[in-house]
Amino acid sequence: MKIYKFKTNKIQLALFIFVMSSFGFNVSQANELAASKKGDFARGATAWVNNCVRCHNVRDPKELRDDQWITTTFHMRIRAGLTGQQTRDIITFLQLSN
Ligand code: HEC
Repeated sequence: MKIYKFKTNKIQLALFIFVMSSFGFNVSQANELAASKKGDFARGATAWVNNCVRCHNVRDPKELRDDQWITTTFHMRIRAGLTGQQTRDIITFLQLSN
């Protein structure tokens, strides 16, 4: 069976960006969005202090390994009502502090 491969060339890419920008999608906005998706240590520290003490004592970042902080923070995200960005920031803070 022949598998159809979708190849994007530069013209198609330029066309795609042109079409997207005509709908108000700005490429520099997309870059900012991509940058803000990364976890931020300083924002994470603030979000951790403000949110993670509401229900129990603050948990020492050293308590858990990097991989355990991912699952635990996802669990706590639901309890604390955090946004995705806050969750990524807190995970970054916890993983860089343990
Ligand atoms: C709305 C209340 C609430 C908030 C806010 C909250 N937690 Fe929790 N946390 C709990 C409860 C309840 C438990 C007991 C375990 C469970 O959820 O069943 C818990 C347990 C834990 C545990 C023990 C391990 C585990 O998964 O059971 C850790 C570590 C933890 N929380 C970290 C955090 C961090 C980090 C934050 C901030 C992102 C946070 N918590 C915010 C309610 C909360």
